[in-house]
Amino acid sequence: MNDNTGSDKPRIAVLGLGHVGLPTALGFVEMGWEVIGADDDASKIAMIQSGQSPFYEPGLDDLLARGLTSGRLKLAHSVEGAVREATILFVCVGTPQKDSGEADLSQVEAIVRVVARNLNGYKLIVEKSTVPAITARWIKKTVARCAKPDDKGKLPAEFDVASNPEFLQEGRAIENIFHPDRVVVGVETGRARELLEQLYQPLGCPILVTNICTAEITKHAANAFLSTKISFINMVADMCEAVGADVSQVALGMGLDPRIGTQFLSAGIGFGGYCFPKDLRAFMYLGYEHGVDCGLLREVENINLRRIERFVKKLREAVWVLQGKQMAVLGLAFKGGTDDIRESPALCIVKTLLGEGARLRVHDPQAMTASQHEMPAQAGRLEYCSSAYEAANGAQALLVLTPWQEYRELDWARLHELMEVPVIVDGRNLLDPNVVRAAGFEYVDMGRSHAMEPDLGEPKLGFILGEIRTVEGREQPPSCSLEP
Ligand code: UGA
Repeated sequence: MNDNTGSDKPRIAVLGLGHVGLPTALGFVEMGWEVIGADDDASKIAMIQSGQSPFYEPGLDDLLARGLTSGRLKLAHSVEGAVREATILFVCVGTPQKDSGEADLSQVEAIVRVVARNLNGYKLIVEKSTVPAITARWIKKTVARCAKPDDKGKLPAEFDVASNPEFLQEGRAIENIFHPDRVVVGVETGRARELLEQLYQPLGCPILVTNICTAEITKHAANAFLSTKISFINMVADMCEAVGADVSQVALGMGLDPRIGTQFLSAGIGFGGYCFPKDLRAFMYLGYEHGVDCGLLREVENINLRRIERFVKKLREAVWVLQGKQMAVLGLAFKGGTDDIRESPALCIVKTLLGEGARLRVHDPQAMTASQHEMPAQAGRLEYCSSAYEAANGAQALLVLTPWQEYRELDWARLHELMEVPVIVDGRNLLDPNVVRAAGFEYVDMGRSHAMEPDLGEPKLGFILGEIRTVEGREQPPSCSLEP
């Protein structure tokens, strides 16, 4: 297939080089495609061009270095140029939310108008950013309106719109791009289908071809379902705490049923990030607009919002007065493996505690720069520390707010010595209670209370598998590999 550039393969443009766009662009380059990455932020383009990723994502710097030396990656801050040179246009701009919860699609519309004005040959416009259902209809209408038809009403060139939602997770983006569980493409012409299948077939994963609206809804439904799983387990965590059960074991016991699955059942301070909270609200807004009852999702959101007060209540119960208390905070990012602090529950807790007059010494392996930008240091109130040990020095409690694996491996004896009062409140159930208790800490977590654990004695012929304990004579669970 030829595009207007004369190349024998259609050229790809990725419009918007954020957390979705940049890994997507580099992924296609790695797969052998010629890609033009465009973003109207000239400083971001300069940074990428110099081999530096504008955000932290494991493996991205290496992929960028390879992309730059391959000769197949071109960077531009002119979206116009990228549109004119390419055939397949991935729209990866931000879709932030308005106060109402509705998605703000102004960046999408702006891109679409540029496409319309530069329709110099066939274009396949692919929605990659998460957009509400029926966005494709507006894209088509906008291109048709703005592309200046001739006297006979004919557009300068043909175009198609498709939806190809992204399911990548920050912190695992590269793995997700090359080994997706599935690819969903929503199309309405054979030409669009063929082009997208040509791109994704080499990945060897299932490709689900649907109509456009179905693909759009699939993305919203997937994120809403995963958010629901998290709020569900957080509700169960409260129940476990009330009766003296252990939510990690409950999650495992449930999750070993393949109909449920063990993933996304980690209880804690709730979900954050740029996607789940925003997409949940946008999905509810869509329901509201179309008269669909989304009460279930409202409760998912409410449970999530209450996790912050739940954590602060626990903290109060553990340390009593917050005013003036010096505490160490481990973790600021919305999850481990990223420097992203958008809608981070950790940051929300930090702000709440500062409001209560606590004195915080905080640390995060990657998110310190972004956090300092959002919440500048305040002498004696909020101090950024270069290590967990520095943060813990003199602290009267240590709070774990982001599940960074490296925090699991801290030297607890050293921390015990450094802290004034050895109390840990673990908002992510990250630490091994036995390890930290053995090091002399008072330890509080989110629903793994061992207070009422019956004394089963040492397992005899039984075994301990992850967190499952079986004793002689009882049926043993199937062996399985457990997620960290
Ligand atoms: C999420 C989805 O997982 C991706 O499939 C999707 O492509 C992406 O949104 C998107 O729409 O762009 P991401 O926001 O990177 O990816 O992060 P997740 O790994 O899904 O975690 C979201 C939040 O849930 C984090 O705050 C995390 O700590 C929390 N979480 C996750 C839990 O509290 N418990 C869990 O068991 C899992």
